Amino acid sequence: MVLLLFFLFCFLELCLKSQCETSYTSEHTIGLENDIGDICMSVTFRVEVLNTENNNTEALPFNLANGKISGKCAIDRKHDAIISSTIEEENGRVKKLKFAFRTEEMHVKRVDELRWQLKKVEYTEKYEGNTAVFESDNSSVIFSAPLTQKYVCEDSLNVTLQSDEFNFPIVIMFYPEIDVQPYGPKSNSFLCERTRRRTLSDSLQHRSTIFAGVILAISSIAHIIGHMVRRHFMPQRKEIYESLTRS
Ligand SMILES: *[C@@H]1O[C@H](CO)[C@@H](O)[C@H](O)[C@H]1NC(C)=O
Ligand SMILES: *[C@@H]1O[C@H](CO)[C@@H](O)[C@H](O)[C@H]1NC(C)=O
Ligand SMILES: *[C@@H]1O[C@H](CO)[C@@H](O)[C@H](O)[C@H]1NC(C)=O
Repeated sequence: MVLLLFFLFCFLELCLKSQCETSYTSEHTIGLENDIGDICMSVTFRVEVLNTENNNTEALPFNLANGKISGKCAIDRKHDAIISSTIEEENGRVKKLKFAFRTEEMHVKRVDELRWQLKKVEYTEKYEGNTAVFESDNSSVIFSAPLTQKYVCEDSLNVTLQSDEFNFPIVIMFYPEIDVQPYGPKSNSFLCERTRRRTLSDSLQHRSTIFAGVILAISSIAHIIGHMVRRHFMPQRKEIYESLTRS
């Protein structure tokens, strides 16, 4: 009985410390659920890792959903949230990608707005007792969206990671669909700048095609009218024209 209580106590203790989050995965998505089964973190994108050592240009896929998922959700909007995926290869090499999120009051269009940010991407490789750590620049914000929105992007994105020990960077390539919801599920989307600009220019191009068509129609009508007017007010030419058509 005492033993049972002891185990229960340990379980609760562990539960409170780690908030009892469980992970879930689906194709290109990794996420965390809290102790009552609600999703509190969801990250979707396809990732490739380019190790630029020796001028290498061949990126390797890092299948997030195949790894061991760990992390923590933010207990509230003031706290950080983390998710990582760790893949152990058959040769004993262990690769880990970690994403750290936080919120920050940001000044956007003259109003202060609480936003979440992907503040840090970290790549760690362990092999035969050696560990290499590469991380994104401390001053950079990789993804950011208002707290009430998810970040959605239809374009790919590169993030360069540096290491104190190595003189070459590692590039993390994010491929769409990119859908990031680190502070719980959101129904509103914040479209990334690149996709927004591209869809805007697509629709402008579409509109300008229609516009050009209208201009062409107007100018050809004007041309016909001009022709008729000219014929009407230039009797000599009218005669010539009429004689030409008669003959
Ligand atoms: C990588 O490329 C640079 C510049 O093109 C060259 O100087 C260097 O020797 C190359 N390094 C290797 C290991 O091939
Ligand atoms: C970023 O900040 C952490 C501590 O805040 C520091 O240990 C690390 O060296 C910094 N990294 C870079 C690339 O400046
Ligand atoms: C990312 O980097 C790769 C390799 O340097 C490059 O081919 C690709 O165009 C880059 N993608 C973006 C979106 O910048």
